[in-house]
Amino acid sequence: MLATLLDRSDGTELPLPASLRDRYGGDLRFPRDRVHVFANFVSSIDGVVSFALPGKTQASFISKGEPADRFVLGLLRAAADAVVVGAGTLREERGGMWTPEQPFPDAAGGFAELRRAMHASERPLMVVVSASGDLDLKTPALAEGAPVVILTTRAGAKRLAGAPTHLRIRALERTTAAEILKATVDETGGKLILTEGGPTLLGHFLRERSLDDLFLTIAPRIVGRDATARRLALVEGAAFAPGEAPESRLASVKTAGDYLFLRFARRT
Ligand SMILES: NC(=O)c1ccc[n+]([C@@H]2O[C@H](COP(=O)([O-])OP(=O)(O)OC[C@H]3O[C@@H](n4cnc5c(N)ncnc54)[C@H](OP(=O)(O)O)[C@@H]3O)[C@@H](O)[C@H]2O)c1
Repeated sequence: MLATLLDRSDGTELPLPASLRDRYGGDLRFPRDRVHVFANFVSSIDGVVSFALPGKTQASFISKGEPADRFVLGLLRAAADAVVVGAGTLREERGGMWTPEQPFPDAAGGFAELRRAMHASERPLMVVVSASGDLDLKTPALAEGAPVVILTTRAGAKRLAGAPTHLRIRALERTTAAEILKATVDETGGKLILTEGGPTLLGHFLRERSLDDLFLTIAPRIVGRDATARRLALVEGAAFAPGEAPESRLASVKTAGDYLFLRFARRT
């Protein structure tokens, strides 16, 4: 499914079943001895991650549902102990379940096999970050009944008082990236933490230099932006000066049709 043009990623090979390795075009490696935070996004050629138009805000309008992108989304979730998403993404991606199999059901068996081989729980823990606590508890991902951790402020926790018990509400002193990660690791006991953003949450992680790896799919289209259509870029709410911008190392390059799959590792 994906063809690998370059792979110089570090870490330990995950025990991918052959079906996943074939589709991914090789192995997937992560450091296993420390907490490792990785993000996954799809953007247009010009770096837009959401059209930000009513009814057309979802990432799938950028990716046009490209199967290889959906597969990578599922694979990275299958590898993760927790998937952290911001409240904005939860609000816009209403049907999202943040499970490995939802974007790519054909590989559900392979994803489950990988998690068993990694001695991981049946699915990654979903963690939602919200300062306001203004969440629609009828959103399928929150209403389904699977455990979800909601990291919020004291005011947010007050607003969420009375939420069903499968939603574990944790009020953090400060919702910094460091505190979000600490609480996430506490809750899962695992070390592989995936964030699917959105761009505001990613901005927090980058400001605090908390992101280790970025998996970025470039979809072969140009979306543009103008004064009336303020479309979201990969990172929102964080702007770096020259010399301060987080630097990366190109860790892998893959293709599927006209889509490009890049993995950038933090340069330390
Ligand atoms: N193309 C892609 O790959 C991709 C990936 C993800 C998302 N998206 C798109 O991006 C759009 C959403 O963008 P967004 O920037 O609004 O998303 P976001 O980062 O998911 O959500 C922002 C909200 O999350 C909460 N939040 C984030 N960081 C926080 C922190 N450090 N402490 C406390 N709360 C924090 C706040 O929630 P409260 O408002 O509740 O306080 C904030 O308003 C959607 O259209 C989504 O589809 C695209």
